[in-house]
Amino acid sequence: MKLRLPIALLLVVCSSLAFAFSRKQRARGATVFEVSGCQHCHTIHHVGGHKGPDLSGVGRRRSKTEIRRQIVYGGKGMPAFGQVLETDEISDLIVYLHACREKPSKTAVQVGSK
Ligand code: HEC
Repeated sequence: MKLRLPIALLLVVCSSLAFAFSRKQRARGATVFEVSGCQHCHTIHHVGGHKGPDLSGVGRRRSKTEIRRQIVYGGKGMPAFGQVLETDEISDLIVYLHACREKPSKTAVQVGSK
């Protein structure tokens, strides 16, 4: 089966391209987070404000759909960003936030206990 090796190589190349792409998207999302005012209210990895919940582990508790809904429509003290951000910026933010999966630290104070 001489075909197997090229196919395997092709798969490796494709998946590493996809990986590099999503890594870029995460990096862009992190920048959007900093420059669009999110950081003013939200902390990620110990940097940012505390008006909203700490988002360091948001990817563990929220789906991409829920994150998108929160960004586009806001609510409960968070402004809507659907009209403020480009569609691409919102997608990058979602990829970035969904990858934020830090476990809550034992010493962290839970904001807005429900
Ligand atoms: C003026 C303060 C403020 C700004 C600016 C802000 N948020 Fe929020 N955000 C909040 C508050 C308050 C909540 C909690 C809402 C609730 O309890 O339902 C929240 C909730 C969230 C949630 C859901 C968190 C969870 O644990 O369910 C996400 C995701 C989120 N914000 C992302 C963003 C992003 C991305 C931006 C920037 C585009 C942003 N926020 C800007 C105040 C803010």
